[in-house]
Amino acid sequence: MLFLPDGRQMKAADSYTIREKKIPSLILMERAARTFVETVMDRGFDLSCVCVVCGSGNNGGDGFAIARLLLEKGAGVTAVMVGNPDHCTEETKRQIELFKEAGGVLGNSFEEGEYSILIDAIFGAGLSRRVEGSYLACIQAMNRSGGVKIAVDVPSGVSTTNGEVATSAFKADLTVTFQCAKLGCTLDPGRDYAGELVVRDIGVDTSGLEGDSKVAYALEEKDAGSMLPRRRPDSHKGDYGKALIIAGSQGMAGAAYLAALAAYRTGAGLVQIYTPEDNRTILQTLLPEAIIRCYDFFDERELLRLLSWADVVSIGSGLGTSDKARRILQTTLENVQVPCVVDADGLNLLAEHTRYLGKLPHENFVFTPHMKEMSRVTRRPVEELKRNRLDVLAQFTGEYRVTCVLKDARTCVCRQGEHPFVNLSGNAAMAKAGSGDVLAGVITGLLAQGMSCFDSAVLGVYLHGLAGDAAREEKGIYSVLARDLADAVGTVLKRLEE
Ligand code: ACO
Repeated sequence: MLFLPDGRQMKAADSYTIREKKIPSLILMERAARTFVETVMDRGFDLSCVCVVCGSGNNGGDGFAIARLLLEKGAGVTAVMVGNPDHCTEETKRQIELFKEAGGVLGNSFEEGEYSILIDAIFGAGLSRRVEGSYLACIQAMNRSGGVKIAVDVPSGVSTTNGEVATSAFKADLTVTFQCAKLGCTLDPGRDYAGELVVRDIGVDTSGLEGDSKVAYALEEKDAGSMLPRRRPDSHKGDYGKALIIAGSQGMAGAAYLAALAAYRTGAGLVQIYTPEDNRTILQTLLPEAIIRCYDFFDERELLRLLSWADVVSIGSGLGTSDKARRILQTTLENVQVPCVVDADGLNLLAEHTRYLGKLPHENFVFTPHMKEMSRVTRRPVEELKRNRLDVLAQFTGEYRVTCVLKDARTCVCRQGEHPFVNLSGNAAMAKAGSGDVLAGVITGLLAQGMSCFDSAVLGVYLHGLAGDAAREEKGIYSVLARDLADAVGTVLKRLEE
């Protein structure tokens, strides 16, 4: 599991290491600088004309230490200070002295131009406000300059909390970050400014981050493998859950197909689709493994029977927002006794009938809104959601006690009492109709096999992203279809199983 702390949380871990582990800050700086220089040397970059631009905080201190070490390697180095030298931290003052003692020359303004490498050490984890004035002018000039652009820890101007860039930020090709990827460098637009993100261990003790429930986590492939539900040799389909997929409307058979296919591909034992009569032939043809139960008119008693049959329910993919769909949703939300995924039109209907939210019979719900659906449900603008996604999710899941999967290029998963998760798998090939239906199906498939709502959501989102990566590998960035994702879930699960 990866920690994704923001700057404040990372600085707390730094201070803890200095205080409790008795590792002086100058030693941490030296380690940071060494790992940075190692990374640069390993890549074989041209060192003939390097410029290191430093701020007065400790990120600047790292920068001066890097400049000194590069000088020792024979590089042609200029170090430049932006900001007020009188505001330098003690560590940074010391690093400036060491740099000068090593023969380094310190400039006091950045010259726009051509460099072999341009290193940004103006602000790191300590950015605390908008970048303006001479700092802004310097960052813009650096972005216009030529050379391989490398950021120290965090590209200056990127918020470590939400990835926001208020005015401008250094546009790095590579960011060498210390100990943990910072949350803001994994969220958009920060991740774009960070370029390739390389995480280097410098011995900061991060154990305190586990106790801080606000610290975000991310899954790695090895975590996913160990979370997968096991399949016993003596088992049968009844052991892997009966999934009821309430999905599709006239002309939207595909959504039901994709959700049901993905649930099966993820391992559900038996899938039944509840859908309008119009969809019967196409669904039976596309997915003969599924039971198809069709309706022309809404029959509450039939739906209640189906709900009591199921071990898990998924509702909403392609359901439409007709009055019939609303009654189906209301009956489901008020009566379902098993875990329930609410997706797409289920959420659009909820946005119009928020009173249903107050009537949920238990806490085993997984909501899977994309930004616009979440905006409708919470009545908050998308821009605000993007800026404060984890705070909004914490508030929403605290109020309604559900697990919420907020879908975006970087999907986040939240549940009260759990660390928030940011998903790092997946790619832009997945930005296609039907991708969300597949995700709802994957989460449903995991729930069917007995996983908790939160684990199903976190693992489901990660598997869905891995499937996207596998599908992209095979089909390229443009041509992946949602059904390729559902099929690639199988490829990914096979890999994890091995
Ligand atoms: N405009 C102008 N000035 C700004 C702005 C802005 N938009 N935002 C922040 N600043 C200034 C502030 O004055 C701030 O100082 P303050 O905290 O006294 O207010 C200063 O910039 C801080 O900038 P940073 O250099 O980013 O922050 P910090 O000094 O906390 O260093 C750190 C960050 C720890 C170096 C991290 O990015 C890093 O690289 N860690 C690697 C490990 C390391 O080197 N550890 C040793 C550090 S020692 C220690 O942490 C005590």
